[in-house]
Amino acid sequence: MKKNYKKDFPLLQNLDIVYLDSGATSQKPIQVIEEIEKFYEHNNANPHRSAYTLSQETTEVYENTRRKIAKFINSKTSEQIIFSKNATESLNLIAYSYGFENLLKGDEVVISIMEHHSNLVPWQKITNSKSASLKYLYLNNNYEIDDEEIENKITDKTKIVGITYVSNVLGTINNVKKVIQVAHKHGAIVVVDASQAIPHMRIDVQDLNCDFLVFSGHKMYAPLGIGVLYGKKDLLENMNPFLMGGDMIEYVYEQETSFAPLPNKFEAGTQNVEGVIGLGAAIDYIEEIGYDNIFDIENEVVSYAKERLSKLNFLNLYITSNEFNHSSVISFNVKGVHPHDVASILDSVGVCIRSGNHCAQPLLRFLGLEATCRASFSFYNTKQDVDKLVSGLEKVYKIFSKYIENKLEGQ
Ligand code: ALA
Repeated sequence: MKKNYKKDFPLLQNLDIVYLDSGATSQKPIQVIEEIEKFYEHNNANPHRSAYTLSQETTEVYENTRRKIAKFINSKTSEQIIFSKNATESLNLIAYSYGFENLLKGDEVVISIMEHHSNLVPWQKITNSKSASLKYLYLNNNYEIDDEEIENKITDKTKIVGITYVSNVLGTINNVKKVIQVAHKHGAIVVVDASQAIPHMRIDVQDLNCDFLVFSGHKMYAPLGIGVLYGKKDLLENMNPFLMGGDMIEYVYEQETSFAPLPNKFEAGTQNVEGVIGLGAAIDYIEEIGYDNIFDIENEVVSYAKERLSKLNFLNLYITSNEFNHSSVISFNVKGVHPHDVASILDSVGVCIRSGNHCAQPLLRFLGLEATCRASFSFYNTKQDVDKLVSGLEKVYKIFSKYIENKLEGQ
């Protein structure tokens, strides 16, 4: 029998809720919470700063976690792992430090229409200021970016490609390897946003051959406020720092400064050590369960959710029909009812989903939608959670039946 992992998550024990918003942030297991407590009770000092033992021990824990992350995503070296606040900060760092320095007038940046605003707005800003253009990879009718689109849009003019591994709205798993192969053929570099992928599947940066890859810790069972940037070493070495301040320098004179080598060059100021420790514990936790196990549990629950939701004729579902290209996110609408009303009624029966544009307004506009309801799953969800979602939606139907029937008749 499969283990029910809810028991590892104190919040899910303390509250009588069905949590279906792990795409926004995951709940935190006791293993992570305890490791953070242990850090404050036994290790807390500022790393890299002082000669006394406590500070050196903190440095060791901090740098060991960097090594752990390097191994986790198969980075050649740990210097290529930069800690940030979240994926958004990592993406801004790339846009400003790499994009701003390397883009020239007339160059093109290509991103997909399904990017989160964090992998879109910084590219607008940089392309505008460099008189470069921002081009989009659009979706086919099956909510996927097909190979033809990738081959047509990425050209010799393309210098940077930004692509999300998994869409936070649709759950579509993009053919990132294909994007990288085509981009490299044209001499462009590729930035992969793995935020929605890494909680569900193993990431291997060398196998992908991506140039940059970013993710947030808080979606993968780690605390809020810790993110990662991976980059190829030669690219990182040639980039200027994004933030200036303490610990990222080598020598500072009155009028000039030389910068520290990687990775410190990109880590100005006192870091979120608690977040780093928590991220290390989250990785241990994921490794202990194993991605194969995570995949099996999530696949069973998400398949069951798709099966049950597709039987509700008052829903529109926005999912690719190719089950191998779909991860743990299901977007839907109740016909004739605003997603915020749906989410409020679900909340009244203890079911937490996200509603709105999910920080992906261009995608929603492309799909002809203003907003969707989004249920996002983790391996701590069960088929009973899906049953509660479905009975909550049946309640929505009862309350709004007049509006829903009108919509159904109009079809
Ligand atoms: N990016 C997060 C989401 O999709 C917040 O919900």
